[in-house]
Amino acid sequence: MVKEFKRIGVLTSGGDAPGMNAAVRAIVRTANSRGVEVMGIYEGYKGLLTENLAVLNNRSVTNIVGRGSTMLYSDRCLEFKTEEGMQKAIVTCKKYGIDGIVAIGGDGTFRGATDLSIRGIPSIGIPGSIDNDITSTDYCIGFDTAKNTVIEMCDRLRDTCESHARCNVVEVMGRGAGGIAIEAGIAVGATAIAIPEIPFDEEAALQRITDCRKDGKRSFLVIVAEGYGAEFSEGLAAKIQEKTGVETKFCRLAHVVRGGNPTLTDRLKATLMGMEAVNQLLRGKSDLVICERRGEIVTMSIRYALILDRMYKGKLKDGDLDMFSAEEIAQMKELCRERTEHFKMLYETADIVAH
Ligand code: F6P
Repeated sequence: MVKEFKRIGVLTSGGDAPGMNAAVRAIVRTANSRGVEVMGIYEGYKGLLTENLAVLNNRSVTNIVGRGSTMLYSDRCLEFKTEEGMQKAIVTCKKYGIDGIVAIGGDGTFRGATDLSIRGIPSIGIPGSIDNDITSTDYCIGFDTAKNTVIEMCDRLRDTCESHARCNVVEVMGRGAGGIAIEAGIAVGATAIAIPEIPFDEEAALQRITDCRKDGKRSFLVIVAEGYGAEFSEGLAAKIQEKTGVETKFCRLAHVVRGGNPTLTDRLKATLMGMEAVNQLLRGKSDLVICERRGEIVTMSIRYALILDRMYKGKLKDGDLDMFSAEEIAQMKELCRERTEHFKMLYETADIVAH
């Protein structure tokens, strides 16, 4: 028999991402429409330890669909990762009658959701991260807005570079992933793009700038994913100026990329994912992450999603694959291959159109 839900909790955890509010709104309204009450848990999992919670009704989430940030605030809570912290969280769930949780965030958030699920609080994860670096899903909430923010900033830099015949090296967020850099880089006509997924050919980039300048090109944008490190990106700007003679400025967009009102894509996908998470929870499902694959909303077990992610990032530990069937492992490998191929295709495209 499917458990009867009277009240569920919702939280946002880890780095915030535009669109998280739209997901919270969808969760509250979907649950309310099914006669289930929702408690907002503030500052991520920390809210379960500090009892920072409040009931959210349909009016509590009015006019947030288009707002950046997260009305529930966010945190990366270390205490929650300890057994003691976890037990405190369970006690809070029992005290407030929270029968299940929807947690929006990245890997760390999903790990928390699994920990709660196995201790009797069914939990579902929704991917929210501007980095789009969660291997189980083609799409994370916030990715589209982040890319659009980068192109807006780069278009501005392009204007002034063109006037002054300069180059601008722009470092963009993404942690270890180059998704924002490569897609936004293509969209702003970057002359070179450095992403962690593909080795960067510095000599070729310098040569291209030199050749294009001879050709009459006045302005250049070079996009570097933050995964390369601050020293690299700032050093590259200095090197371009020194080796090509093109005056070069450096700009780190940093957290600017995490703010702002979400795009249509982020609002829509966050709404669909939020609704699906509640539907899954009320259907009696637990320990799942909501994913997008080839345009469809699907689910994956969190355990599988976390190991898949480690496989893609080359961080598998001994025994990680023991609990999976040969078929599941083959599917993981295929998903990793598809992601690698996708980056290669984008990189090759960028390379051809950059001249
Ligand atoms: O994961 C999102 C992200 O913005 C990354 O792109 C970046 O590396 C990191 O978070 C920054 O974290 P913080 O906000 O803690 O400085």
